[in-house]
Amino acid sequence: MERIYLDNAATTGILPEVKLAILESMDTLYANPSSIHADGRKVRSALEHARKSIAKHLGASIGEIFFTSGGTESSNMILNHAVKDLGVKRIITTKIEHPCVLHTVTNLENSGIKTIWLSISENGVISTDELEKVLTESKEKTLVVLMHANNEIGTILPLQKVAEICSNHDALFFTDTVQTIGFYPINLTQTPISFLSGSAHKFHGPKGVGFVYINSSNIISPFIVGGEQERNMRAGTENIHSIIGMAKALDIAITNMKQNRIHILNLKKLLIHSLTENFENLYVIGNDNPEEFHYKILNIGFPETSRSELLVLNLDIEGVSASGGSACSSGVERGSHVLEGIKAPEERKYARFSFSRFNTKEEIDYLITKLKKLTPVKNEVDV
Ligand SMILES: Cc1ncc(COP(=O)(O)O)c(C=O)c1O
Repeated sequence: MERIYLDNAATTGILPEVKLAILESMDTLYANPSSIHADGRKVRSALEHARKSIAKHLGASIGEIFFTSGGTESSNMILNHAVKDLGVKRIITTKIEHPCVLHTVTNLENSGIKTIWLSISENGVISTDELEKVLTESKEKTLVVLMHANNEIGTILPLQKVAEICSNHDALFFTDTVQTIGFYPINLTQTPISFLSGSAHKFHGPKGVGFVYINSSNIISPFIVGGEQERNMRAGTENIHSIIGMAKALDIAITNMKQNRIHILNLKKLLIHSLTENFENLYVIGNDNPEEFHYKILNIGFPETSRSELLVLNLDIEGVSASGGSACSSGVERGSHVLEGIKAPEERKYARFSFSRFNTKEEIDYLITKLKKLTPVKNEVDV
């Protein structure tokens, strides 16, 4: 068997249809979309077509979608400029957000913005009662920042409930939906969200392109300044080919969402089942309920033994790509802030397996065979 790619939360492979759409656009759409001649207008029309398609899939207006270089830029833009332009005095968030959110919030906190870090359960779940309580405590302009799905452990936020709580308290709500766009339905006509972010490479689109949704009632200034692109909201000639690829990828992801979900969830269930059948003393983070944990992510803590020491590296040598992580906070090894945040047991080796529609049951069986070589199986004493 060739290499097995089980790191789809880090990034996904580009779809052939997406690649084709990009290549075609490279041949035909070479003018600058800001040029007013016919060639430029043709590119502008393709750009707006892509925006319309993405907006439609999310239930947003065309004027609420702005193209960016991806999730990181989108988060930086929203956080910095919501605070600067919308008079935000308080941020409510958690310690297990993606680094592009966490570091930006920490910088804002260091510059004097009051920040409240919500507590999280051992599975990364927030308490909506606590959120409500904190929101009730003050009438200061507040921005709530909570990711829809955690990229390391998969915890899913009860999006509708949190959005309604924020809306009822007049708080702005930014949710990082980088891991869920194209995997979970999001309907902005029904869910009151102020800002969200997306990144094409997580749903089989190209890397280095994404978008931000900014609800039309929130007017913020551009993060990147220069020309008047993106209706003055993001300067720089648009990454037209990638944007076309992103719109195509999202279209395919949303059209096939139901069947992809069934396939991927079955792989996750099979892996949980095979792991618990074959190995003991595992620390399984979360479960196979897709409304509680992302169906594409499974993070497992393996018992620390001589053979599991370099588990993810050894899996790599055996032909399996997965992601590692440790809850170690000693400073000797740089631990995962998420595993640390949920206080995952330190004396374990963590591996995150993340699936795509292209993974197969045979690949899960192959992974189990390889794991048997690296970590003790049931009724076996480590040597
Ligand atoms: C939850 C989450 N937010 C943001 C990002 C950053 O996105 P990008 O790679 O497009 O900058 C990632 C990517 O790993 C992510 O998983």
